[in-house]
Amino acid sequence: MKTVTPRLKYKDNILYFEDVELTKIVKKISTPVYVYSKNQIIENFLNYKSALYKRKNLICFAMKANSNYEVLKIIKTLGGGCDVTSGGELFRALNAKINPKKIVYAGVGKTEQEINYAFKNEILMFNIESKDEVEFLNNIAKNKNKKINIAIRINPEVNTHTISHISTGEEGTKFGIPLYEVKDFVRFVLNECKNLNLIGLHYHIGSQICTVTPFVEATKKVCNLINELISIGIKLKYLDIGGGLGIRYKDEEPPTPHKLINELLKYIPQYLTIICEPGRYIVGNAGILITKVLYHKKVKNKNFLIVDTSMTDLIRPAFYGAYHNIIPLKLNSNNFKKFDIVGPVCETSDFLGKNMLISDVVNGEYLVIETTGAYGFVMSSNYNSRLRISEVMVDKDKFYLIRKRESYKNLISGEIF
Ligand code: LLP
Repeated sequence: MKTVTPRLKYKDNILYFEDVELTKIVKKISTPVYVYSKNQIIENFLNYKSALYKRKNLICFAMKANSNYEVLKIIKTLGGGCDVTSGGELFRALNAKINPKKIVYAGVGKTEQEINYAFKNEILMFNIESKDEVEFLNNIAKNKNKKINIAIRINPEVNTHTISHISTGEEGTKFGIPLYEVKDFVRFVLNECKNLNLIGLHYHIGSQICTVTPFVEATKKVCNLINELISIGIKLKYLDIGGGLGIRYKDEEPPTPHKLINELLKYIPQYLTIICEPGRYIVGNAGILITKVLYHKKVKNKNFLIVDTSMTDLIRPAFYGAYHNIIPLKLNSNNFKKFDIVGPVCETSDFLGKNMLISDVVNGEYLVIETTGAYGFVMSSNYNSRLRISEVMVDKDKFYLIRKRESYKNLISGEIF
């Protein structure tokens, strides 16, 4: 069977991730378990970094994709910053000693408490999404007699051709300031918000985008605007081009960061520092989820494999209809069959894969769900009072636990008795 994950390979019919035989991990840690490849994360980050080498740049990893401390530590060691979207993410980033001057904060609903927290820690900039927000921020700064750095998040209104749930840069979404309002918005900020420093523009058009066209369209639109602003005497320092580059889950052929960035650089003025916010690209293909087959079940012509993971650990199939390749940890049968792979949760939408053609496995054996390093663990929940699962990092022939499985005690730790 074929893998789509670069560092996941069969040797003598057993899967290895980097140089670790996966049976060792399931024996020691048990299942379900997320496993990440340190060297894949590093390679992905460096791919982005080298694509930007001609320009002043900063990579702010979109930590909403994977916010484990160990992952953030890798990003920090490589000189990266973070794109945060809540006070909680900021807390995690600071806890991992990410330099606050490398942190940008986007989100349509930042609370006063979150703004104060970010302000106190002197992050690089707030990416502003509405007029109410900009006024609110200005008042906070005024009361403190200080100035706050901001960038305006623009909605460039382009068609991204991705899953509608994760498209943010189309007309009518809640994100950013519509392009046609931006010039007036800039004037408003400069004239009325004396406690704000406008230092950049930002756009992020969506996620899992597999062609350069929407990125180019958005960049052209925003850079035209930057040139117009220059002509009226407004020179900015940063252009934050967001994240969104797609990865291969099945047979997609997304552009490399080099190809994408080279196209975009044609339009971006030299003097700007470019900020990028890749999330999925950095961690997506660096992660797998290992699960145990509990039972086989046949209903009419349908074959189910019931496994010990579920939508509570990986919600992407249930939520977006997303595809993740699923393969056996050990290849010991040539009996290929179509299975629906489902979890124990009381929802019909609790599936990990439908109509997956795989070689049969006996109960108690393991399956590997691929390309789950991004938006996997971070979207997990305790629904059905299931425990959040453990996470493991592999580094060449070593592996180590980077998050413990929750206990029943954890489940009720916040409740008042
Ligand atoms: N910057 C901003 C402002 C964002 O909202 C996002 C993702 C990113 C950067 C990173 O985008 P990426 O490089 O990862 O595509 N849960 C969904 C994805 C939601 C993406 C939300 N925003 C999924 O599982 O596909």
